[in-house]
Amino acid sequence: MLSMKRIIVVFCLLFASVYSDQDPFYLGSTLYAPYMTSPTEPLYSLVMQREFNIAVAENEMKFSGVHGGGQTIYDFSRADAIATLAMQNGMKMRGHTLVWHHAIPSWLSQGNYTSVQLAQILVDHITTVIQHYSQKYPGLILAWDVVNEAYNVERGYLNEQAALIAAGKDPTDPANIKSPRTIWSKIGQFDAAGNPISTWDPLRDYVRLAFRTARAADPNVKLFYNDYSNEGISTGSTGNYNFVKGLVGEGVPIDGVGMQYHLLLNKPTDVNNYSQSTLLSNLQRYAALGLDIHITELDVRIPTSDATGFIPTTPDLLAAQTQVFANVAATCAQTPACKALLCWGFTYAHSWIPASFAFFGAATPFDQNYVPTPGYLALQKGLLLRKKCCF
Ligand code: G3I
Repeated sequence: MLSMKRIIVVFCLLFASVYSDQDPFYLGSTLYAPYMTSPTEPLYSLVMQREFNIAVAENEMKFSGVHGGGQTIYDFSRADAIATLAMQNGMKMRGHTLVWHHAIPSWLSQGNYTSVQLAQILVDHITTVIQHYSQKYPGLILAWDVVNEAYNVERGYLNEQAALIAAGKDPTDPANIKSPRTIWSKIGQFDAAGNPISTWDPLRDYVRLAFRTARAADPNVKLFYNDYSNEGISTGSTGNYNFVKGLVGEGVPIDGVGMQYHLLLNKPTDVNNYSQSTLLSNLQRYAALGLDIHITELDVRIPTSDATGFIPTTPDLLAAQTQVFANVAATCAQTPACKALLCWGFTYAHSWIPASFAFFGAATPFDQNYVPTPGYLALQKGLLLRKKCCF
């Protein structure tokens, strides 16, 4: 007869074996190479090395960052400076991003390429960039954001078209179109002879091609679809989920979903928009598709009383933000498919938020003096749930 104590021990061992870390968990941030060696930022590299095991280039690995000079001209120097630092510091990287509607160089945006020519440019770009890193930095890239924000850019275009029609305006007049389709949506519209293709799907044709090309370029690296406003449960996030579910169902080689997690608290009660139940339900429906999940660009912006974005207007906002960081970490920790969490800038001093949203900031886990915020302490505590065994 087994004693109760032995039963508990057996249960814990079984539970631990199920939830033991098969894969390491990755925590990280954007990494800007010049700050790693700058005498004016002595703590930047210290925090990066002490706290994080994964990095991402904020801009240097985007299309214009590596392929900005012309169709056959690649320049990996700025991106490789980050890759070299990451490898030297024993870090992995997320490759961001191969296909997006921003960071498009003028030779491409003004090239007036046909559908077939654009498809070839996309294939060449994806293949060249993926193979550059798999050959020069083997094992460094944990995952590529193969396509970024496809669903939301198409949704924005279609919503605007509907609004123009409802307002009796010409939806085809470029003067009326503020949210254009991505340049990539032309892929699949016409054949090499210029004849229209009846099955053209402006949202999915280039996405399918991008993922199949990426898989052919490197069979081992994880391929992710990355987007924003896909964090909770809402009409928009469910539309995003259904878009990904459809591609997975077709057999498009997607290994994971990146959820950007650019979160906003206008007031302390907005914390309710990011409850653990809402965030967990969303993570679990993607996990049920067999996908890995990376939280890819976490920041929680709050109103600040200064233009630099360093001083939260009230302590209540900072307390609410701390709860959001706790909720994000706890839900990721409770979802085995959630394998990585990265911030989009880790210090108030170098965040995209203040320049993009006036009088918002204090969005990152460290402040401008590289002091951990209460949010970071809550983030770390929440992530400990990954380690807890039985109770
Ligand atoms: O490097 C040039 C510089 O030479 C030039 O003088 C200057 C003025 O034109 O522009 C500089 O490039 C800017 C680049 O950031 C580097 O600072 C681009 O104009 C600017 O558009 C670019 O903004 C980036 C944005 O993505 C667009 O690529 C932001 O820093 C970056 O934080 C933001 O990150 C995105 C993610 O990639 C995707 N998810 C959303 C997130 C926030 O928008």
